Order: sequence, then C-alpha cells, then structure tokens
Amino acid sequence: MQWGERYELGIARMDETHREFIEYCNALTAAAPENFLACLDAFIAHTAAHFDQENRWMEAVDFPACHRAEHDRVLEVMREIRQRVEKNDLFLGRRLLEELPPWFDNHVDTMDAALAFYLKEISFDTESGALPANQSAAHARSAQGCGCSAHAPGADTKKLFQ
Ligand SMILES: [Fe+2]
Ligand SMILES: [Fe+2]
Repeated sequence: MQWGERYELGIARMDETHREFIEYCNALTAAAPENFLACLDAFIAHTAAHFDQENRWMEAVDFPACHRAEHDRVLEVMREIRQRVEKNDLFLGRRLLEELPPWFDNHVDTMDAALAFYLKEISFDTESGALPANQSAAHARSAQGCGCSAHAPGADTKKLFQ
C-alpha cells in the first residue's frame, strides 16, 4: 500500500495514524514466515489504538455508533485470524493482507471521511478532546450520517471476509 493524497482527511492526528496503518500493513506483507505472528501482533495493537482514538472522538461528540461497530468487527476478524496464524495457518494471514487494503480504502473514504468532516465542522480539538465552548453534545446529535451505507445511500461499505 502506498500513502497518497486521497487518504488525507485534514485532521493531522488521524492522517498520521492512517499513515502508520499503511506502514504496519506493508511490514506485515514483507514479513518472513517466522516473523509473521510478531508483525501481526504489532499491527493489531496499532489498529486497536487507532480505532480507540476514533471511538473516543466519536463518543465525545455523540457520533452515530455504526462506525464504532465497524471497528469492533474488523478487530474481531483480525484477532480470530491471529489465533489461526498462531496455529501455523499462514494462508489466512495472507488472505487478511489481500482484504485489508480495499477495506481500508473504503473505510477512510466513507466512515473516516464523514467523521473528519464533522469534527472539522464543529472545530473539535482532537489533541485535547474538548469541544469548543459554544458547542455541545446536543449539537453533535444533528450529525448528518456516519458514512456507512445505512446512513448515506451510495456509500458502499465493503465487507471484510464476507
Ligand atoms: Fe481510521
Ligand atoms: Fe474509522
């Protein structure tokens, strides 16, 4: 995977985390079989922190929950595959690496883009996690969609391993 402008959503911390996601994905792709599990563990730990970070922002602004549910689902898939890799099923580990890039492209393009757009619109400070003084969680409830296909017709949520 290669970082490109299309991934830039204008929130420095989010963009940096997404850059790292690509680096971890590439490191896992290049990993020798004997290092695969360790690289996968590092990737899963980073992904858990990546998703937690977005989940905290969403909670702070009372954002629709489907985005968090999508994070939970993907982490579950990654952890299940990790168990299989531990039992020497590298095939599924390699399959994960085929599925993750298109999933990530779509997720950044839809759910993360919708979240970034909204956070910028309400001037949410991702460093402090604080809403501006004139904003409130009640205002946040009026958010127009979370970027998932249920809330934004036309936004196609590609399914990982489905
Ligand atoms: Fe993200
Ligand atoms: Fe996300």
